[in-house]
Amino acid sequence: MSKKAWGGRFATELNETALRFSASVDVDKRLYPQDIRGSIAHVRMLAAQGILESAEAEKIEKGLNDVLARIEAGEFEWRVDREDVHMNIESALTEAIGPVGGKLHTARSRNDQVATDMRLWVRDAIDDTVTRLDRFLGVLVIRAEGTVSVLMPGYTHLQRAQPIRLAHHLMAWVEGLERDRARLLDARKRVNESPLGSAALASTTFPLDRERTAKELGFDRPLRNSLDATADRDFLLEVLSVLSILSVHLCRIAEELVLWSSQEFGFIEMSDAVTTGSSIMPQKKNPDMAELVRGKTGRVIGNLVNLLVTTKALPLAYNRDLQEDKRPVFDAFDTVRDSIDILALCLAGTNFRDDRMRAALADGFLDATEIADFLAARGMPFREAHHVSGRLVSRAIREGKTLPEFSLDELREESELFDESIHEALDMEIAVERRNVYGGPARARVEAAIREERATLEARGIDLALLSEETGAQPVIRYEDEG
Ligand code: ARG
Repeated sequence: MSKKAWGGRFATELNETALRFSASVDVDKRLYPQDIRGSIAHVRMLAAQGILESAEAEKIEKGLNDVLARIEAGEFEWRVDREDVHMNIESALTEAIGPVGGKLHTARSRNDQVATDMRLWVRDAIDDTVTRLDRFLGVLVIRAEGTVSVLMPGYTHLQRAQPIRLAHHLMAWVEGLERDRARLLDARKRVNESPLGSAALASTTFPLDRERTAKELGFDRPLRNSLDATADRDFLLEVLSVLSILSVHLCRIAEELVLWSSQEFGFIEMSDAVTTGSSIMPQKKNPDMAELVRGKTGRVIGNLVNLLVTTKALPLAYNRDLQEDKRPVFDAFDTVRDSIDILALCLAGTNFRDDRMRAALADGFLDATEIADFLAARGMPFREAHHVSGRLVSRAIREGKTLPEFSLDELREESELFDESIHEALDMEIAVERRNVYGGPARARVEAAIREERATLEARGIDLALLSEETGAQPVIRYEDEG
């Protein structure tokens, strides 16, 4: 076993079990690009400040780049006895370039180093998540554009409630995801500050230029307090919170896909590419991908709770407990990334059954509100109008009818205020069109919302025509083409 890097004070090596227990390299080796980037910024600054000779700094920088190349070529040996990503890279550097490699760690500690690495990693991961979200939003917009004419029941309490447009439902998903995107980018501001130069806890006696390393690494500024910079993980908690909320949105979409693809709803048929069969029941087409998005949401929320509990009672400043921050953060981003991509795939290829949605509209008295509104518009207090409409529904159920099947005379038995125009008011298309309020499901309102979102996505550089080609998301109802 190698000599401990913190060497001098220790007569014996770390116990084998203790080593295995405390090593984190299997998890944190993912931080190698950030770790090397941070080290290069640090060493350049040390030279600029006259703390290292420029020749030394150049040698170290070149050595770090060689290590990077070896890692990327798969030629790097990650050693558990070197504990973590930082020690693996530094030891390999020193092996390659000699004792001068040991100067890299001047005026630095793994405490500010690891905090820097995590902030760099999370910043990239946020940007990647946002890019994927934009693609998913694009798919939703494309599908919404093709389904403005499709009417469906809107639900409350999972009971058919009032008629809406399918596009209005899809665009409701868009709204939540847009807020998630905004939350991610807001959290990014607090991620993007530099701990580097805080050293172990109390900064250092060397005259560092923290502004310089912050700038070089693309951070907005150095963090103001060295204890805070090395000990707080609130930036991770915040990001995990945002990812959890995002996951809950993804989960709710997935849940609706599961419901809609059931025979009971029959509103959609998901493509073969994202459904599975049963080994025993040949008729089945299971929405496994949507179910897994739902299931994995538990993991993402678990990751948030994991880190909350890990950090809740830690005294300042760094404690080794903080090493446990990586797994939940990596796992949350990995899971959310895959879930977004899978749902985009599902939505791109889903066949919307407008016939089934329309059939569901005819059944369930979704026009009962129309009757109440009709009477209220003619002066009857709404509470009373609601009552009249309820009595008609109850009579229709008794007589096995729908509301439009009542004659005007039958309706007038309940209220004199009914006239010929009531039958028009019960038409579902007209009922939706009358909900012509900002944010409502009338065609013009839905189209305006889609147009706005399309412009937003285009301004972000999303090419919707290309996206539609790449994902197979069609701005038409596939069902009609199938014959
Ligand atoms: N692997 C450690 C972590 O992730 C690096 C920091 C170690 N610092 C220390 N004082 N032991 O937290």
